Amino acid sequence: MEISIRNICCIGAGYVGGPTMAVIADRCPNILVNVVDVNKERIDLWNSSNLDNLPIYEPGLDEIIKRCRDKNLFFSNDVEKFISSADMIFISVNTPTKKKGIGAGKASDLKWVEASARQVAAFATGHTIVVEKSTLPVRTAEVIKEILLSKKDFSDQENDSSTFDVLSNPEFLAEGTAIHDLENPDRVLIGGEDKDAIKALTNIYKNWVSPKKILETNIWSSELAKLTANAFLAQRVSSINSIGALCEATGADVREVAKAIGFDSRIGSKFLDAGPGFGGSCFKKDILNLVYLSEYFGLKEVADFWNSVVTFNTWHQHRISRLITKKLFGTLSGKKIVVLGFAFKSNTNDTRESAAIQICKNLIEEGAALFIHDPKVNHQQISRDLNLKPFSFIEKNEKEKIKNHGGYWDTISSTKNAFKDADAILVLTEWSEYKNIDWANASSQMRKPSWLFDSRSVIDPTKLENTDINFWRIGDGLKI
Ligand code: NAD
Ligand code: UGA
Repeated sequence: MEISIRNICCIGAGYVGGPTMAVIADRCPNILVNVVDVNKERIDLWNSSNLDNLPIYEPGLDEIIKRCRDKNLFFSNDVEKFISSADMIFISVNTPTKKKGIGAGKASDLKWVEASARQVAAFATGHTIVVEKSTLPVRTAEVIKEILLSKKDFSDQENDSSTFDVLSNPEFLAEGTAIHDLENPDRVLIGGEDKDAIKALTNIYKNWVSPKKILETNIWSSELAKLTANAFLAQRVSSINSIGALCEATGADVREVAKAIGFDSRIGSKFLDAGPGFGGSCFKKDILNLVYLSEYFGLKEVADFWNSVVTFNTWHQHRISRLITKKLFGTLSGKKIVVLGFAFKSNTNDTRESAAIQICKNLIEEGAALFIHDPKVNHQQISRDLNLKPFSFIEKNEKEKIKNHGGYWDTISSTKNAFKDADAILVLTEWSEYKNIDWANASSQMRKPSWLFDSRSVIDPTKLENTDINFWRIGDGLKI
């Protein structure tokens, strides 16, 4: 039986739910799309008339919101209302690593997914296709099904005729390029059993995605493929970062090595940029999830293999802060360091698991005074991440004490005139505006000897030729 979808509800208006539903609404004008969230502030921001205030920064997102919002795309806190009117429901809620209990530190915390499934069970009417959009451990679909089916046992409505299908449709978008990735996906993966439900979801994507790119698998393969894709990508980043450390020790250049291996069509050239270590909300959590699953099924060696990708990444972040301290004569006490970039990558305001968090914490611990710039991350977010107030928010009488001991941070709103008396500049996010800094001018303002640490390879070394700035670049053995 052909199921025609006219009304979609997405639970979770985050980095995935918001952009994904915006693109579906944009490409499917005949479908009504309601995005619901329990977070009132987030929904208010999605509805704000000033598009600069959207809760998520993604290039191109504001234009789609402008086109579709209040036409066939709506954001609301009324979870019950929009679940009950939907014929397809996407679950796009957060699935962070569990903090306590069984599997703490590795397994995904499914409490938000379970709560969503219970909301669907309680409010859905008629036949509803429930789509897992969140990244989930293998066999979560079973849990969702069990919750949905348990409705039958407890429903007090005698004539409750609601029925459900559950599909897995993991999302592969990367932040910063989310709209491009959603509009031109490498593939769309749909896992499930019911052919009609799969066809209904396929038909939505067929509005803009070639059928050749829409892959059908069983539901467990789909769930595992998502974890595997992230694990492979993160493993590539750790691999090139490990080679970067070796380049620094041997006199090789990681960019040249990456280029040379990237020409091999079996390896490919993407995802070979050495950096300060991978961040983002998903790589670490998804690998840890894989580690937990492997341990659960008694595959210790498999668990150890993937765990090493995460432990290497943490070591690498500490390696960067250690080498900065060493270059600055072993102490950062009272030294001014300008930090360029705090987001986990460019073109996003997301700082979750950003390498900048660990590196900045280490530098503050060593007594540095950090002046942090990021075009899209505000001081409230940095304060939450560092678990420390910015200097300008500290009580007046405390300020002198802190100034003497060092170990504090503040934000700067522009890089213009930011380098006065700085001992070092540290690039942590590859925002393109950092390519255009006037280094001769920066050099003239800095305290000597001055250093520029580029953990992202965004600075063109030839632009430093007429300055007296010492330059360290990730994986550059020639400069050591
Ligand atoms: P997020 O934290 O930005 O958004 C999740 C939203 O869900 C929050 O706003 C939260 O308030 C809301 N929520 C939680 N429980 C709810 C409930 N019961 N009812 C209504 N709203 C509820 O998370 P995200 O980054 O969008 O990630 C969501 C999922 O997608 C995760 O499983 C993640 O692994 C996966 N994923 C994320 C990305 C990414 O780039 N961020 C990419 C692919 C997949
Ligand atoms: C990643 C995946 O790329 C997406 O396919 C996936 O959907 C998403 O995770 C998810 O499940 O959340 P994202 O974390 O948004 O996307 O961004 P990436 O571009 O993958 O970057 C992740 C981290 O690796 C960043 O800190 C980035 O700077 C770093 N990275 C990436 C490098 O250091 N070098 C590279 O060559 C590539």
